Amino acid sequence: MNRSVKIDGGVAVITGAASGIGAGLARHAAAKNMNLVLADWDEPRLRALASELPTDTLIMSVDVSDGDRINALADAAFDRFGDVDMLFNNAGIMTSGRSWEIDAETWQQSLDVNIGGIVNGMRAFIPRLIAADRPAHIINTASVGGFYSVPLLAPYMASKTAVVAITEALAGELASMGSKIRTSLLAPGAVKTDLMRDAAPKESEEFWQSLRGVADRKGKMPDEFAVMVFDAIEHGEFWIIPQPESLDGRLRERTDMILERRHPADKRGHG
Ligand SMILES: NC(=O)c1ccc[n+]([C@@H]2O[C@H](COP(=O)([O-])OP(=O)(O)OC[C@H]3O[C@@H](n4cnc5c(N)ncnc54)[C@H](O)[C@@H]3O)[C@@H](O)[C@H]2O)c1
Repeated sequence: MNRSVKIDGGVAVITGAASGIGAGLARHAAAKNMNLVLADWDEPRLRALASELPTDTLIMSVDVSDGDRINALADAAFDRFGDVDMLFNNAGIMTSGRSWEIDAETWQQSLDVNIGGIVNGMRAFIPRLIAADRPAHIINTASVGGFYSVPLLAPYMASKTAVVAITEALAGELASMGSKIRTSLLAPGAVKTDLMRDAAPKESEEFWQSLRGVADRKGKMPDEFAVMVFDAIEHGEFWIIPQPESLDGRLRERTDMILERRHPADKRGHG
């Protein structure tokens, strides 16, 4: 089926819009004449971004892990613009450390933001979008790390794996009821953003530096990344994986590792 569409105008809601990928998506959506509803818990940066955007932009200080605030965001979006065409559930955080040494509060926050934030977005917007009975598109941000796991990033990998599972389930649920709402799973590879800005725990500093090194050497800039994302949306892709070189080989190796019942620490299982 040819699902190609050209995006010009409409309304996009973006969480985690103050920085990085979210800010890039906001700038590119505005360049496509979209009005915007931008949410983030960093209101000063959100305000600064909004001041440089050419289209009508509503900003809201929101912690995506707070379901009431996301409901308020959905109310505000529909009140202001009447409709929503795209929802980017994009906000996320990264934590590192040995899985048993990360404190309970940090574990919980990773799950509440990276999984809970996406579920809150779906719970707040989908009933309203179904009631509107118009085409709309929900894009949930996971990571290439949602398809495999590495040491020292357990909360991140666990939450991104959950986002892949949730979005796959969502796509089937909406399709089975003949909904006009489409979904995509966005799995970025390295993008140069503030995701790794916060200092790493000492025991994983070396690992953290190597991750930052990959982002510096191979990372896309948020604005070029946003162009790739919108191209994929316009081509009707469910699996939006703009940097397949960061995933496909590892995914095959991981699948082989499981099918061959090999231990994850066996290097043949890693790319
Ligand atoms: N940058 C990468 O290399 C990369 C790779 C794979 C996936 N991702 C994913 O892309 C998404 C965007 O990350 P980014 O790289 O642009 O990072 P970033 O840190 O530059 O931007 C994330 C934004 O989300 C906001 N945010 C975080 N928690 C929030 C919360 N609870 N409520 C509201 N806002 C919150 C932050 O304030 C920030 O503005 C994340 O889901 C991240 O996991 C990024």
